[in-house]
Amino acid sequence: MASYLQIADDEKGHELDLFCVPRHYENDLEKVIIPHGLIMDRTERLARDIIRDMGGHHIVALCVLKGGYKFFADLLDYIKALNQNSDKSVPLTVDFIRVKSYCNDQSTNSVKVIGGDELSNLSGKNVLIVEDIVETGRTMQTLLSLLSECNPKMVKVVSLLVKRTPRSSGYRPDYIGFEVPDSFLVGYALDYNEYFRDLSHICILNDQAKEKYKV
Ligand code: IMP
Ligand code: MG
Repeated sequence: MASYLQIADDEKGHELDLFCVPRHYENDLEKVIIPHGLIMDRTERLARDIIRDMGGHHIVALCVLKGGYKFFADLLDYIKALNQNSDKSVPLTVDFIRVKSYCNDQSTNSVKVIGGDELSNLSGKNVLIVEDIVETGRTMQTLLSLLSECNPKMVKVVSLLVKRTPRSSGYRPDYIGFEVPDSFLVGYALDYNEYFRDLSHICILNDQAKEKYKV
């Protein structure tokens, strides 16, 4: 089973004042739960684990937009660094897909995949799906069943976060950065109705902000 860094349910986190948080979000956040530096350090190690398992053959890294874009960019930088500093290396190409399943802070039953027609290029490739967070697991299970129709050589999933929640379907990604409590998290490209992607650290949203940015 994938190892991960566990953030406990009673984790106190860090006071916002200790970090740089944009002024416009100061009153919206409960606390910093994963500082940006820790995200980067854990991502560096995930890159090493991924290359160890997948590094024998052309890798197509598939970014699940929009929430995955920061993690995708940083993870690929670390993979690139490994690729250009060792005797063995493999071509790495990228692709992007959009999946939308959320309204306010609730996962909805319908999972929409946009940009699916490029999926046929994945035939015979080692595909690495890069996701921000797995909650129920429905988004990833839908995507995996779509992908299997394209006959890739290998499919692995890396998710920066996995939520500990009774709503989980039991699905677990191949690589996990952090396992997090059942709270709504924002920052490092994770959003609440499109806000908070422009925040570096992963933070817990407060209830007042859930009202303020509700659609
Ligand atoms: P799932 O289909 O329930 O696993 O939900 C996965 C998707 O829901 C993720 O890719 C996110 O886009 C979104 N999501 C789930 N939990 C959170 C959260 O705490 N903050 C922001 N987005 C979330
Ligand atoms: Mg996502």
